[in-house]
Amino acid sequence: MKMRKISLCVIGLFAFAAIVSAQDISLPTPVKTGGKPLMNALNERKSIKTFSGKPLDQQNLSNLLWAAYGFNRESKRVVPSSENKQEIDVYVALPTGVYFYDAKANVLKLHQAEVPKASISQPSVTDVAAFTLIYVANVDKASSRESCYIDTGFLVQNVYLYCASEGFGSVARGSFKAQQLQADLKLGANQIVTLVQAVGVPK
Ligand SMILES: Cc1cc2nc3c(=O)[nH]c(=O)nc-3n(C[C@H](O)[C@H](O)[C@H](O)COP(=O)(O)O)c2cc1C
Repeated sequence: MKMRKISLCVIGLFAFAAIVSAQDISLPTPVKTGGKPLMNALNERKSIKTFSGKPLDQQNLSNLLWAAYGFNRESKRVVPSSENKQEIDVYVALPTGVYFYDAKANVLKLHQAEVPKASISQPSVTDVAAFTLIYVANVDKASSRESCYIDTGFLVQNVYLYCASEGFGSVARGSFKAQQLQADLKLGANQIVTLVQAVGVPK
């Protein structure tokens, strides 16, 4: 019986290691309660472009990503998408690399170690933000090209509201170099960067 338990533990550990590699970031379970009342958060939502350079801790990062694009039902998310295509992917550009947000596993999977600072652009904001969210849409999966941009807006606003609720700052940014960023991230021809969004601790 004891041997069986040990074997199961070992198998479990190997299975976990296969999903979460050493370079990935396994996020704490998001806290889905609390925060400011909705009307207060709406009243405080604004763009912030001056950041302190401080990071967000992993709990806040996890909460924010869940607010942006987590699942709140078995296979549906906190945001709507046209025809429920769920064509948006969220990448997070942290100082240690660019990560893919796997909402089901609640893991940030390392996409690449190089952070494409030049194509993310606007250094006065992004150099002092804690991270930049990069919204990538799969146009083949989407209802239409337009819906990729419309659907992105829901994620962006959720991040704005989470930041307003928790005292963080955020700004949506259209002034990135779309084609260069697509190339830097080695995205497929069917993937477009719809918007980026800086997040940080306000100065
Ligand atoms: C689609 C979109 C693109 C934006 N692009 C930029 C940008 O590239 N740089 C920037 O500093 N702010 C950008 N903003 C932020 C706007 O300047 C900001 O939302 C606007 O001034 C209103 O301010 P508020 O968000 O505080 O209400 C963008 C906002 C949106 C919605």
